Amino acid sequence: MNESSPEYIWWQKGIIYQIYPRSFQDSNGDGLGDLQGILKRLDYLNSLGVTALWLSPIYPSPMADFGYDIADYQTVDAIFGSLSDFDELLAGVHSRGMKLILDLVPNHTSNQHPWFLESRSSRDNPKRDWYIWHDSKPDGSAPNNWLSVFGGSAWEWDELTGQYYYHAFLKEQPDLNWRNPAVQEAMLGVMRFWLDKGVDGFRVDVMWHMIKDKHLRDNPINPDYQPHMATYEQLLPVYSTDQPDVHDIVLKMRQVVDAYPERLLIGEIYLPIHQLVAYYGIDGKGAHLPFNFQLLTLPWDAQTIAATIDQYEGLLPKGGWPNWVLGNHDQPRITSRVGVEQAWVAALLLLTLRGTPTIYYGEEIGMRDVPIPFNEVQDPQGLNMPDKNLSRDPARTPMQWNQTTYAGFSERKPWLRVAPDFGRKNVWRQEDDPLSILSFYKRLINLRQQEPALMVGDYVPVYATSQLIAYIRQLEGHPRFLILLNLSHRTAYFNAKDNPLRGIVEIATTPEWEGVEVADRISLGGDDGLLIRLLDE
Ligand code: GLC
Repeated sequence: MNESSPEYIWWQKGIIYQIYPRSFQDSNGDGLGDLQGILKRLDYLNSLGVTALWLSPIYPSPMADFGYDIADYQTVDAIFGSLSDFDELLAGVHSRGMKLILDLVPNHTSNQHPWFLESRSSRDNPKRDWYIWHDSKPDGSAPNNWLSVFGGSAWEWDELTGQYYYHAFLKEQPDLNWRNPAVQEAMLGVMRFWLDKGVDGFRVDVMWHMIKDKHLRDNPINPDYQPHMATYEQLLPVYSTDQPDVHDIVLKMRQVVDAYPERLLIGEIYLPIHQLVAYYGIDGKGAHLPFNFQLLTLPWDAQTIAATIDQYEGLLPKGGWPNWVLGNHDQPRITSRVGVEQAWVAALLLLTLRGTPTIYYGEEIGMRDVPIPFNEVQDPQGLNMPDKNLSRDPARTPMQWNQTTYAGFSERKPWLRVAPDFGRKNVWRQEDDPLSILSFYKRLINLRQQEPALMVGDYVPVYATSQLIAYIRQLEGHPRFLILLNLSHRTAYFNAKDNPLRGIVEIATTPEWEGVEVADRISLGGDDGLLIRLLDE
């Protein structure tokens, strides 16, 4: 970590790495990743240069949604290990100067959570109001038209007590009623439990879902719905998500986090930029980092992306720190979206934009989505809408460590099959290859962490064309960098026009560029990305 920018906090200067624990490293031969496995790989992560690890959920879970259905918030699922393994992992992370961020899933529990079992047991149970129960309409149908993200109605009829309950996701994931102060207290208590243990922050699952319309009004029809889209998209979730009073809840979470020094609150929020930035909160008292998924959702088009970067930079509230994400466990991998060559350009973009980058495990070795045969599909989203290609399994396959059986992930057959090309594409092979994407990531990370302009400097757009994005990163008193990204496969021309520039290419997607001195007019090859150290007179 660079000491020359002491006024910035670790999560502003750092790089987050997302681990999907089930798929990272198995240590006990059951084909499932675990905490001891992660512990074994901490030196690798440290040498990669990432500074914070976010773990997808590790809590006890029936695994209907692979850990996003939690049955106990305050311990570890046996498949991942024990609470003492967790303590060991936390200590191992901290002793290497890294931070550990946990996933917090406050919107819903598992239907096996004791809270729900009680809530469901009778209408007058004290925990009845901890979840969202409602009478049917007079004709027996669901209280409103809300849909589940994973397909079908979001309401499930409960025979025993004669009411429906709401679930934004699976019926095995009933939504908590966050309007109930007892629910709030319970979940804020969960946060304190982990903060007291020393975790450095939370990534809050589906933050924008947490509060729903009090009157449960019907959602309007989405006029732009297309049959290939998830059935959930038939309606616009106007009343079921992003309600104004969600910000009161985020503020409460932030207050809990703020009672501890330098802890981080991240929100998972899929919303257009102008709605997203509201999650920074009034006076910046909301999420520190509302996840910015623009690079995940936009077409890979230079002009669109450049315009979006400008829009995002422009809409950030005062003091709001930006962040960028290329992939996560819910989305196709970047390499599969934009192709192998452009994945390098994407890495250069991610690691040179202003704001905290999050790397999804395997991105650094160019992992691709792995085709999972129909009869091996595990993801409920894929299983529930089989003809829409929505399974998230392809982006969740085992990390490719080396060319031994099962890619060094496990000694036994993993829960999801390993990529067919793991023999060629793995950490072991790439580590000593200076031309590998892993080496490229390492060099980029290293430079970003050493150069204050790249780490925390301003973003200055130069211009964009239909092929090219050009911008400068600068910080007073430090070397400036020009970044040129060709988002197309065709040659492209950069012309500095009235702003004469001179510099030396420091890192490039095509190694022949490195060390070359460049000036005002630069002709780039297809898929070229250049990081140029400017020679300022
Ligand atoms: C979030 C998670 C996703 C999960 C869903 C329901 O979007 O990232 O994996 O299925 O929430 O918890």
